Amino acid sequence: MDGKTVTAAKNGCEGCNQEAFDEIGNIIDLYKDKEGSLIQVLHRAQGIYGYLPLELQSYIADGLGLSLSEVSGVVTFYPFFKTKPQGKHTISICMGTACYVRGGKKLVETIRDLLGIEVGETTEDGMFTFVVERCIGACGLAPAVMVDDTVYRQVDEEMLKAIIEKYRKGEVSA
Ligand code: FES
Repeated sequence: MDGKTVTAAKNGCEGCNQEAFDEIGNIIDLYKDKEGSLIQVLHRAQGIYGYLPLELQSYIADGLGLSLSEVSGVVTFYPFFKTKPQGKHTISICMGTACYVRGGKKLVETIRDLLGIEVGETTEDGMFTFVVERCIGACGLAPAVMVDDTVYRQVDEEMLKAIIEKYRKGEVSA
């Protein structure tokens, strides 16, 4: 890492994970002279840090010689990029047409009741983040729910409760 990056890391964010910032600084150094490298850097930064807080976006902007608004514009454009800490597990309820008409809406209510969070939020214990999707490719067996990378089909409320319990008990790892 060069002197400039080290300085940026130190100024990056009080209370942020300095080690992670340093690691991301090394990645910025690798990519900074390459055209169109912002998305790759953001991907890798999120992989390391878990999400992309404003301080980290600013750090990346400095490192790549971009403005914060350029970086933030990309972060907010792609749903993949997260600006808040994510739960250990992400529960995605499909609200595409097939799932919606076969009970997806009820599953959304079940999650709200069960976890006490709204779409886009994370439980206080950091265990679950709740999102909705448009279609996860399992329309034939709707309604579908995805937890992390695992798709569950023909899910009803009882099944959803059992799935969540399984993750809560750590019977399925992240
Ligand atoms: S609409 Fe839900 S899987 Fe396609």
